[in-house]
Amino acid sequence: MKILVVGSGGREHALAWKLAQSERVQTIFVAPGNGGTASDIRLENISLTDPTELAEFALKEQIGLTVVGPEVPLAAGIVNIFRDRGLKIFGPTKEAAQLESSKDFAKAFMQRHAIPTAEYKTFSELAAAHEYIESKGAPIVIKADGLAAGKGVVVAMSLDEAHAAIDMMLSDNKLGDAGARVVIEEFLAGEEASFIVMVDGKNVLPLATSQDHKRLKDKDEGPNTGGMGAYSPAPIVTPQLHARVMREIINPTVQGMAKDGIVFTGFLYAGLMIDEHGNPKTLEFNCRMGDPETQPIMARLKTDLVQVMEHAVNGTLDSVELEWDRRTAMGVVMAAAGYPDTPRKGDRITGIPAETAECVTFHAGTALIDKQLSVTGGRVLCVVGLGDTVKLAQKHAYETVEKIHFDGAQYRRDIGWRAMNRKH
Ligand code: AMP
Ligand code: GLY
Repeated sequence: MKILVVGSGGREHALAWKLAQSERVQTIFVAPGNGGTASDIRLENISLTDPTELAEFALKEQIGLTVVGPEVPLAAGIVNIFRDRGLKIFGPTKEAAQLESSKDFAKAFMQRHAIPTAEYKTFSELAAAHEYIESKGAPIVIKADGLAAGKGVVVAMSLDEAHAAIDMMLSDNKLGDAGARVVIEEFLAGEEASFIVMVDGKNVLPLATSQDHKRLKDKDEGPNTGGMGAYSPAPIVTPQLHARVMREIINPTVQGMAKDGIVFTGFLYAGLMIDEHGNPKTLEFNCRMGDPETQPIMARLKTDLVQVMEHAVNGTLDSVELEWDRRTAMGVVMAAAGYPDTPRKGDRITGIPAETAECVTFHAGTALIDKQLSVTGGRVLCVVGLGDTVKLAQKHAYETVEKIHFDGAQYRRDIGWRAMNRKH
């Protein structure tokens, strides 16, 4: 079978890497891919990004399955476009993708279906938003309604910060249309976890749990990023909590969408905040896999992903049982100088070792030009170590990170600290 993976990040490299392990695969095209997918002889990059052009390509090449990584093509309706042409694709329709592409849609949906989340109100008018903030006090969270590539959320610890965030979005239009409406919500304290499932329209298949590290610097300091590292499993998600999240958040979401007339298919990612008593609330929905969560999750998946995807597009996920490597997988992101605001491009990358049973390096912002790898974007690599303990997984990841070089590389030294500190 020929497969198409849409996207160019570490998530897509990890998905393509895992799909390529299946004996059923003839060729995997990655659109547009990166330096890592270009270097893998089982994968072939194609320089297309427009959803309609991709559908034409899929028809011409008789692609049997398409898997979409990022949110932007999903929100643009790539799944609708492919299905209209009779092509098999795994992802949510444009309508279902609103769970991620509009925070207001997601919040109203959660409220309507009694799914636990922070209290909120939506504004498009400046004065009313400022007044609401004054009445609620800080800390408080301001979110742009639309997709803003990870820049749309301000966790304001003071009223000054909150007012500035409102001005930035509603008055200075710094986020364009995405920030023309804002959701203002209650600040939630606790520990975050990423809860990702596959949905085929009716059946739900949970993937292994994971935890991301959003801040740039050690000890969770510095600016928010797309994610500086992730590991799987996340010990905070105990079997009891897992059952509760399925019962209180995931199942009501899939059923609630259906009740509202929208069949959900694709990956569904609930970003959870778990309070000190172990109660989960939904911070956000994504309608795709997480990046970098995908990298450690794929490194642990033992089941043939092509087979799983086929069940997903055929509506038979209830017949799948996933098998996981029992080890912990830990992904450490190496980012470019200047990330997240002004990532520097062009630095040469050297020293990436070959994959072993204990470590695999996924590419994101890289390109392969004349056999030379160079930096092309913010998050450059994600080095995933595997080990029987969290500590061992961490050791394997960092041993490899230290062998890799590009000027100005930034990475956190403490990925996995919450799991390391945890008393079992
Ligand atoms: P989101 O894109 O909505 O997940 O927000 C990005 C990050 O902002 C989350 O991963 C949290 O770290 C933080 N955040 C979002 N909403 C809240 C909230 N209500 N309370 C505290 N932190 C939040
Ligand atoms: N790592 C967070 C995300 O993919 O949204």
